[in-house]
Amino acid sequence: MRHKGRITNTVIGALIILTGAAFIASCEKYSYIVETVNPVDTVHFQTEIQPIFTANCITCHRGTRNPDLRDGNSYESLTTGGYVTLPAESSRIYSKITSSSHEAFTLPVEKQKILIWIQQGARDN
Ligand code: HEC
Repeated sequence: MRHKGRITNTVIGALIILTGAAFIASCEKYSYIVETVNPVDTVHFQTEIQPIFTANCITCHRGTRNPDLRDGNSYESLTTGGYVTLPAESSRIYSKITSSSHEAFTLPVEKQKILIWIQQGARDN
């Protein structure tokens, strides 16, 4: 009787550990899914880039600080200010959004969109 009880406890213990391990593994699987942009797809300034600026930048870059990233002003400000030159990786805007002062303002996928948009010619599309 006592022997049987010990086996039952061992089995229950093993099940708890296995369930825990499966739970942790399932969490990990989801945390490693990173959203990425296919570089072959066209990135559109009006519908994909400007919303990033509007949501993350214009609290500070609203006219008094360069570049002016408000809707309607940003394209002109970025191109005439020389922020979106090739190679895209060393452009002033990409360097800034990946630097320590600005890194936290955008998600990895947003940084990637800006990079690809510049690589595709930084068009007002
Ligand atoms: C909390 C305020 C704040 C936010 C939000 C912010 N910036 Fe800035 N940004 C600054 C300040 C202050 C400077 C000047 C100091 C420096 O270069 O870090 C600056 C500088 C820059 C520069 C360099 C300007 C130059 O002429 O060299 C760029 C490019 C830039 N920001 C882009 C962005 C973009 C894109 C976003 C949104 C993803 C953003 N910033 C969000 C405060 C901000």
